[in-house]
Amino acid sequence: MENKHKLVIIVGSVRDGRFGPVVASWVADQAHAHGGFDVEVVDLAEVEIPLALPAESPKYAGDGYPRPAGMAALTSALEGADAFVIVTPEYNHSYPASLKAAIDWHFTQWTAKPVAFVSYGGAAGGRHAVLHLENVLTELHAVTIRDGLAFPNYFTGWQDGRPLDSGAAGYAKTLLDQLSWWAGALRTAREVAPYPA
Ligand SMILES: Cc1cc2nc3c(=O)[nH]c(=O)nc-3n(C[C@H](O)[C@H](O)[C@H](O)COP(=O)(O)O)c2cc1C
Repeated sequence: MENKHKLVIIVGSVRDGRFGPVVASWVADQAHAHGGFDVEVVDLAEVEIPLALPAESPKYAGDGYPRPAGMAALTSALEGADAFVIVTPEYNHSYPASLKAAIDWHFTQWTAKPVAFVSYGGAAGGRHAVLHLENVLTELHAVTIRDGLAFPNYFTGWQDGRPLDSGAAGYAKTLLDQLSWWAGALRTAREVAPYPA
């Protein structure tokens, strides 16, 4: 496909022994198979993300925002992205602090771009985490995608790096189709006129 959209898949968990990279790797495989994206996986465990933010908000600071050197690759990936998939577990009925910190260090990089979610966890499959993320990303003027993928009780539902649910690849295709549509529509819109944030 010509003119592929730049897709950034974010691994939201950073703890020792995490499952997140397994899910992200499978999502990346689905995105490659879809064919509409140039795919980059960004692992927050490899990014320097201090909890203490600078005095000014990134919403107003522009390119001069004083981020740490170890965050540059993340910032550049977010900046260049046409679309995102956030891979998140559920921690205490929300999403991990690593993800919140990574989001809060940026602002314009999310604006007028589509975000889809792939979650996993216990019985709720990360449902609470995604609800919270949708709320937060709306503040950043991102557009959240209706169809998501949720993997409840992932510890019994995955084997050899892939979900046992034979329908999962089909659900991923639907998610990626919607994400691709929004990525194209919003990229055109951003090119035609600056978003009035
Ligand atoms: C601090 C913490 C809180 C958790 N809270 C929840 C929860 O509220 N709901 C849930 O379904 N699973 C919860 N879990 C289980 C996680 O979903 C599970 O451990 C998952 O593997 C975490 O993702 P990760 O391995 O990528 O870090 C929690 C795990 C941790 C470490």
